[in-house]
Amino acid sequence: AEPALVEHFEATLARHDRIEPRDWMPEAYRATLVRQIAQHAHSEIIGMQPEGNWLTRAPSLRRKAILLAKVQDEAGHGLYLYSACETLGTSRRELTEKLLTGRQKYSSIFNYPTLSYADVGTIGWLVDGAAICNQVPLCRTSYGPYGRAMIRICKEESFHQRQGYELLLTMMRGTDEQRAMVQESVDRFWWPALMMFGPPDADSPNTGQSMAWGIKRNTNDELRQKFVDMSVPQAEALGVTLPDPDLRWNEERQAHDFGQPDWDEFRAVVRGDGPCNAQRIEHRRRAHDDGAWVRAAATAFAARQAGEESR
Ligand code: ACO
Repeated sequence: AEPALVEHFEATLARHDRIEPRDWMPEAYRATLVRQIAQHAHSEIIGMQPEGNWLTRAPSLRRKAILLAKVQDEAGHGLYLYSACETLGTSRRELTEKLLTGRQKYSSIFNYPTLSYADVGTIGWLVDGAAICNQVPLCRTSYGPYGRAMIRICKEESFHQRQGYELLLTMMRGTDEQRAMVQESVDRFWWPALMMFGPPDADSPNTGQSMAWGIKRNTNDELRQKFVDMSVPQAEALGVTLPDPDLRWNEERQAHDFGQPDWDEFRAVVRGDGPCNAQRIEHRRRAHDDGAWVRAAATAFAARQAGEESR
């Protein structure tokens, strides 16, 4: 690359300013962004499934309206992110194909089943809470289209988090049976939520370079700590116990000490051996096949419009 272009790239990063699609960028920077943004987009789309599972069994019209809005928001997030990824020169078709053939990842968390309606609340509280913790700093990521997509996504994620917390609060004010459902759900989701932040910094191959490029603004362990510190008082207010015997306040660090998730389980889930991996991809493939006529119709319509315009 021309030295002036390299200099422009580095000066932009040094000012904490944004790199835009037409700017020159190192190929490895581009590839890292495609990897991370695609993984993020796929997570939003696959993430519709665990909760979509409960749409037809919501306990009231109000709960159904909330859940429907939330699942639709996730589709929207996937679309903004696919668009951001396309500005890097990768087509939506290619991204979809890589998801369906397992060549690109999506978040481990969505490979766990949703077994009760309390899971809708827990996913809002813990999973969307973890997503916010990870995504608020990404609003300042160095790549313009990604950072701008994150701003809107974070606003919607705050609504998701609060609807989940409010659902759990309502159940905690209900019967003993409802309280037990909430606790059982929190017991299942706590550790997988901690895994969402990725492997410990010492085992994270990408963090160093991604921080140097301003793609990531915090390390995996920093954000995991922030999430634990944020969740403990919320758990107390709810009246649930977090399933970690090592969890305690450390006066010296002014932060909570906590136990390690089962990293073997994490690796297995990322490899494709989690409880629902096969089901999630199979469902996604079927939905994609069922949508073939929509894509064909849209393509035919676009071609006809183009023909009419050139006439
Ligand atoms: N699930 C699946 N794969 C993961 C996870 C996870 N929870 N955490 C890390 N990985 C993968 C990484 O993608 C990487 O794999 P790859 O190199 O083959 O792509 C590998 O494990 C090693 O991890 P890191 O070196 O730490 O990777 P990275 O620097 O990309 O950090 C992180 C991972 C923190 C998830 C980062 O990519 C990120 O912030 N992504 C954007 C947020 C996001 O994707 N959220 C999706 C879930 S939230 C939601 O959708 C509601």
